[in-house]
Parts: sequence; structure tokens; C-alpha cells
Amino acid sequence: MTENSTSLPGEMPENDEAMAEAAVPTDVAGGPEVVNESTSEPSGEPAVEEPAKRKRRFPWKVLGVVAGVALLVALVLPVFSMLQPGYYKRYPSLHARMENWQVSTHAKVPCSGCHVNPGAGGFVSFAGRSIPAFYSQLIYGPKSNNLFASPSRQACQKCHTTYRQVSPNGDLLIPHRAHVQVLKLDCPVCHKDLVHSVNEQGFNRPEMETCLETCHDGKKATNQCVKCHTQKQVPESHLQKNWLAVHPEMVNKIDCSKCHAWTPKFCDDCHSKKPKSHVGNWKKNHAAAAKARGEKGCLVCHGGEKFCKKCHD
Ligand code: HEC
Ligand code: HEC
Ligand code: HEC
Ligand code: HEC
Ligand code: HEC
Ligand code: HEC
Ligand code: HEC
Ligand code: HEC
Repeated sequence: MTENSTSLPGEMPENDEAMAEAAVPTDVAGGPEVVNESTSEPSGEPAVEEPAKRKRRFPWKVLGVVAGVALLVALVLPVFSMLQPGYYKRYPSLHARMENWQVSTHAKVPCSGCHVNPGAGGFVSFAGRSIPAFYSQLIYGPKSNNLFASPSRQACQKCHTTYRQVSPNGDLLIPHRAHVQVLKLDCPVCHKDLVHSVNEQGFNRPEMETCLETCHDGKKATNQCVKCHTQKQVPESHLQKNWLAVHPEMVNKIDCSKCHAWTPKFCDDCHSKKPKSHVGNWKKNHAAAAKARGEKGCLVCHGGEKFCKKCHD
């Protein structure tokens, strides 16, 4: 894989090391040559001693420096490469994540913006993970193991505060401080669709179901609509006694989805249950109901016309 991608920095250490190795023999060979030339000259004795001293010390120093530089490159290069978002293109398993990130609100924030914790500690732990991961990728190929963990709240707080109380449209009450500082929740617990995926409704935003399933089940925490929403009080229409019977008539007058769209199943769940009207000899009696109410209403629960066609050609 790395052979194909010529511009990737992954190949650099090989070249550098090769260059470094190549440099060592020429320097070592350079030493003795000078010695030979100087000894062959018929000059005084001190001239013979000086190069002899150099012969012992000189190569070790160079070798030490070269090895030091090579080691530094070998350590710095992986960390540097893995701070570049482009590096992760080589991992096929990350392609979907990268595509989503590129069109997200955080496209200008590099991977390290969210995935490296702030401060020296975060950087050192990132370096500790990236060096083995880099060489493992060179040797065994791009398998993504352990590259990044889910971001911590500290990483998001490099740019965001926790003072936010309501959503931008004003409907949703979401006291961030209570959740982040008091309950110590990490941001991705709720913002898991922030950059790498969209939720079922097609947004990169938290889903209501996450709240209801994780904590707001009515026992651990409230599940009353009005505790979270300012614009979803039970409307007056619903308070009439025969609401269930008359709600079909209201469908064209009120936008039901304003409150019920959070789950496409809300209406369907109930409609899959046999209604009270279907009692007695319904097989025979539905004829009258269908004539009186119109067949359109029947199809709300009975899907397409296939159901009726089972018996009516
Ligand atoms: C704005 C913040 C942000 C940026 C920028 C970002 N991510 Fe993420 N990343 C997240 C969040 C939040 C999660 C946790 C939710 C999830 O798994 O999708 C995550 C999860 C991941 C995971 C899975 C971690 C696990 O739990 O196993 C990988 C891998 C990953 N990101 C890679 C990347 C790469 C590669 C880039 C750069 C191209 C990147 N991310 C940029 C926020 C970010
Ligand atoms: C490097 C700074 C930076 C970091 C780190 C960062 N953000 Fe943001 N975030 C921004 C900026 C800037 C915007 C506004 C983008 C815009 O509106 O186009 C933004 C917008 C947002 C939005 C609103 C837009 C949307 O997509 O819903 C949310 C939510 C958000 N960030 C959450 C997070 C979370 C959670 C993390 C940590 C995983 C995080 N951010 C990390 C800079 C950052
Ligand atoms: C308990 C769940 C939860 C946690 C934890 C959480 N958020 Fe949020 N956040 C939400 C919800 C829900 C919204 C409203 C989304 C909407 O309707 O736009 C939101 C909205 C936001 C917005 C504004 C979105 C916009 O469209 O402008 C930002 C920015 C944001 N959160 C950042 C963060 C950061 C940073 C953290 C961690 C420090 C965090 N959130 C933790 C649930 C949470
Ligand atoms: C624990 C808090 C919470 C409770 C309780 C709650 N919701 Fe939500 N609701 C949310 C969150 C979070 C979202 C997602 C925010 C988004 O999509 O911007 C949401 C989204 C929605 C949406 C889709 C977005 C919109 O405004 O059109 C509807 C509709 C909705 N809720 C209705 C209700 C109704 C009705 C109830 C009561 C049965 C309820 N919610 C109870 C938190 C809650
Ligand atoms: C302003 C918000 C809102 C609007 C608009 C709305 N509803 Fe509701 N609806 C609610 C709430 C809140 C509940 C009670 C949910 C709960 O407590 O679980 C509810 C409950 C219901 C129930 C169940 C009643 C029961 O006895 O179990 C039906 C049926 C229903 N709505 C139908 C509709 C229809 C049909 C429309 C459109 C004509 C509609 N709703 C419009 C908020 C709304
Ligand atoms: C609590 C259960 C329940 C919920 C929730 C519910 N319905 Fe109904 N719905 C019924 C029942 C029962 C009938 C049949 C009434 C009858 O035949 O007397 C019905 C019938 C209907 C009909 C017309 C059927 C006909 O025969 O004309 C429509 C339209 C309708 N519902 C729309 C909705 C919509 C839209 C929603 C969601 C916003 C919804 N309903 C939610 C129980 C429910
Ligand atoms: C609130 C939803 C709902 C409405 C409205 C509704 N039905 Fe049904 N109906 C059902 C369910 C649920 C069943 C049971 C389905 C099954 O057993 O597969 C059923 C069964 C039936 C059956 C089969 C009865 C049997 O014994 O096999 C007929 C016929 C039928 N409905 C006709 C109608 C007609 C005609 C209308 C309109 C006047 C109507 N339904 C309105 C939910 C509804
Ligand atoms: C289980 C088989 C069956 C299914 C499914 C069924 N019907 Fe019927 N339907 C009948 C029978 C049997 C009759 C004759 C009943 C009678 O007149 O005694 C009938 C009669 C009718 C009539 C009266 C026809 C006439 O010419 O007088 C209407 C209207 C009707 N059905 C509508 C529907 C609709 C709409 C559906 C789908 C929602 C449906 N039926 C599904 C068996 C079925």
C-alpha cells in the first residue's frame, strides 16, 4: 500500500536512514585517506601523530550524531505525520469517517483538534500511541487499531464552553453545565453524530431517543416533553375526551409532525393495534364503515391498497 502512495511521509524514514547509513562509510573512509596522504609526505613527526589521534575519535562522534539524528527522526516523524489529517486516508476503514468529517461543521478542525487532549499530557499520550501505530502500519499494513479514542470533553472545551442552555431555535432546553460539569458526561455521549455520521433523521445532531433510552426514562430522569421542550405542550385539542376518535379529522388542520416527528413510529405503533371499531363481525361490518368514513382513512393503518386487494379484486 505504501509503495503506491509516493507522496506519503511514511517512506521518509527509510530514505533518511539509508542516507544516514550511506553517509557513515564515506566519512570513515575519508579519515584514513587523509592519514595516508599526510604520512606519505616527508614532513615532521608531529604531522604523523595528529591524524592518528583523529583516526580514533572522529568516526564515533559522527556516528553518534548520525544515530541521534536518525533516532530523533524515527520518533518525530510518526508523530508529525499522524497530526496531519491526510495521513489517515491510507486506512480504508476510516474512509467513511473522513468523508463525513470533510463535509461537517468541523471540516477545518484537524483530527488532532478533537482526538488529542489539551496540554503536554495529552500530547505525550498521543505520541506514545502514534509511534507504534505508525511502524505497525508500515510493517503490517493499514489496519486501524487503537488510532483514536472517542474525544474527551476537555478536547471540545478547547473551543467550546459548557454554558449553553437552549438550542439555537429556542425549543430545546439543554443545560450543558448540568450534564458536562455536574454529571461529568463527555460531549460525544450526546454529540456522537457530530462529524462522523448522521442520525436517523439525517442530521449531525443529538437524537431524542438517546436521551430517553440513556437516562430520561421517567424514572432516572424526567421524560415529560415540557421539561425539555418549550414548544411541545400537549395541545388543547388533545384534551377533549374523544380525542382518539376525532384525531383523524385534525390531521389536515394541525401539523402533527411538529411534535410527533421525533419518531416515525409514533403513529404506526398505535395503528398496528386493532382499533375498537373492528369488533364483532368486522369482516362483514367493515363495509358500512368504509362507505361511511371513506376508504382513505382505512389506508392510514392498512398501508397500500394491497391489503384490501387480498379480498377485493
Ligand atoms: C470536531 C471533532 C472531531 C474531529 C475534528 C474528528 N473527530 Fe473523530 N470522533 C469525534 C467524535 C465525537 C467521535 C465519537 C463518536 C463516533 O465514534 O463517531 C469520534 C470517533 C472517532 C473514531 C473512533 C474512536 C473509537 O471510539 O473507536 C475514529 C477512528 C476517529 N474519530 C477518527 C478521526 C479522524 C481520522 C479524524 C480526522 C480526519 C477525526 N476523527 C476528526 C470527533 C471528531
Ligand atoms: C478547534 C476548535 C473546535 C473544537 C476542538 C471543537 N469545536 Fe465544535 N465548533 C467549532 C466551531 C468554530 C464551530 C462553528 C462552526 C460553524 O458554525 O460553521 C463549532 C460548532 C459546533 C457545534 C454546532 C454545529 C453542529 O454541527 O451541530 C457543536 C454541536 C459542536 N461544535 C460541538 C463540539 C464537540 C462535541 C466537540 C468535541 C468532540 C467540538 N465541538 C470540538 C470549533 C471547535
Ligand atoms: C446530555 C447531552 C449533551 C451533552 C453531554 C453535551 N451536549 Fe451539546 N447539545 C446537546 C443537545 C441536545 C443540543 C441541541 C441540539 C440542537 O437541537 O441543535 C446541544 C447543542 C450544543 C451546541 C449548539 C449546537 C448548535 O447548533 O449551535 C454546542 C456548541 C454544543 N452542544 C457543544 C457541546 C460540548 C462542547 C459539549 C461537551 C463539553 C456538549 N455539547 C455536551 C446535548 C448535549
Ligand atoms: C430528555 C429530554 C427530552 C424529552 C423528555 C423529550 N424530548 Fe423531544 N427532543 C429531545 C432532543 C434532544 C431532540 C433532538 C434535538 C434536535 O433534533 O434538534 C428532540 C427532538 C424532538 C423532535 C424533533 C425535532 C423538532 O423539534 O421537530 C420532536 C418532534 C420532539 N422532540 C417531540 C417531543 C415530544 C412530543 C416529547 C414528549 C412526548 C418529547 N419530545 C420529549 C429531547 C427531549
Ligand atoms: C404541540 C405539540 C403537539 C401537536 C402539534 C400534536 N400533538 Fe399529539 N400529542 C402531543 C403530546 C405532548 C402528547 C402526549 C404524549 C405522551 O404523553 O406520551 C400527544 C399524544 C397524542 C396521541 C395519543 C393520545 C393518547 O390518548 O394516547 C395521539 C393519538 C396524538 N397525539 C395524535 C396527534 C395528531 C393526529 C396530531 C395532528 C393532528 C397531533 N397529535 C398533534 C403533542 C402534540
Ligand atoms: C393511541 C393510539 C393512536 C395514536 C398514537 C395515533 N392514532 Fe390514529 N388512530 C387510532 C385509532 C384507534 C384509529 C381508529 C379510530 C376509529 O376507527 O374509531 C385511528 C385512526 C386514524 C386515522 C383515520 C382512520 C379512519 O378510519 O378514517 C388517521 C388519519 C389517523 N389515525 C392519524 C394519526 C396520526 C397522523 C397519528 C400520529 C400523529 C396518529 N393517528 C396516532 C389510534 C391512534
Ligand atoms: C387504527 C388502525 C386501523 C384503522 C383506521 C382501520 N383498521 Fe382495519 N385493521 C387494523 C388492524 C391492526 C387489523 C388487524 C390486522 C391483522 O390481523 O393482520 C385490522 C384488520 C382489518 C380487516 C381484517 C379483519 C379480519 O378478520 O381478517 C379488515 C377487513 C379491515 N381491517 C378493514 C378496515 C376498513 C374497511 C377500515 C376503514 C373503515 C379499517 N380497517 C380501518 C387497523 C386499522
Ligand atoms: C378478509 C377479506 C377482506 C379484506 C382484507 C377487505 N375486505 Fe372489504 N369486504 C369483504 C367482504 C367479504 C365483503 C362483503 C361483505 C358484505 O357485504 O357482507 C366486503 C365488502 C366491502 C365493501 C362493500 C362493497 C360493496 O360493494 O358493498 C367495501 C367498501 C369494502 N369491503 C372495503 C374494504 C377496504 C377499503 C378494505 C381494505 C382496508 C377491505 N375492504 C378489505 C372482505 C374483505
